[in-house]
Amino acid sequence: MKIKNIKVCAFDAYGTCFDINSAAQNLAKEIGKDWLSFSTTWRTVQLEYTWLRSLMKKHEDFWRVTEDSLDFAMESHKIDKKFRSKLLELYKKLNSYPELVTCLKNLKEKNVKTCILSNGSPSLLNELTAHAKVQDLFDDLISIEEVGIYKPHPKVYELVTKKFDCKPEEVCFLSSNTWDIVGGGIFGYQSIWVDRFGKTFDKLGYQPKFKIKDLSELIKLF
Ligand code: 2OP
Repeated sequence: MKIKNIKVCAFDAYGTCFDINSAAQNLAKEIGKDWLSFSTTWRTVQLEYTWLRSLMKKHEDFWRVTEDSLDFAMESHKIDKKFRSKLLELYKKLNSYPELVTCLKNLKEKNVKTCILSNGSPSLLNELTAHAKVQDLFDDLISIEEVGIYKPHPKVYELVTKKFDCKPEEVCFLSSNTWDIVGGGIFGYQSIWVDRFGKTFDKLGYQPKFKIKDLSELIKLF
């Protein structure tokens, strides 16, 4: 089955283009065998804080939320505070997934526009994409900071249709985060779930038409 009438491919950043566990993994020796469960707590609480701040109308940018969730995770997993600044430095330079560059180049060859749509602040997205040397493969880096509320609020997904002057169904949206796929799908995107981790899909009243295991499979749908 092919995906049709796409004007732009919008990519979630964290967990889809960039490996959120690579920060803790780079310090696995120092953190110890608990590094993955610590990293999972960090990510889970980071997302919870975005949703809670949006609901409470107490917006802070993604860097502040990343710092606060790191402090929570370090305290709850009893990780020595001396690793805090190194973990934050690594988070700004997360590893990109190995298939990302080829995926973006394949889309360029088919004249498909590409962008990032992320909770990340503009400076974080600039730093991430520059470090991964993929900045020139994206036509735009779109941050929720433009609307001051986190995903999955519909105002976030609307940013792509405004920037590229297109309808929601002309956006192919890629995320490994199932709640994000639901948010984009309910807004009207053709959402594709990048099921990197073999997760269970959320029960939130939306199922994506397409599922791929990583970004190398995307071009086959075009
Ligand atoms: C994003 O990049 C947090 O993965 C989410 O917007």
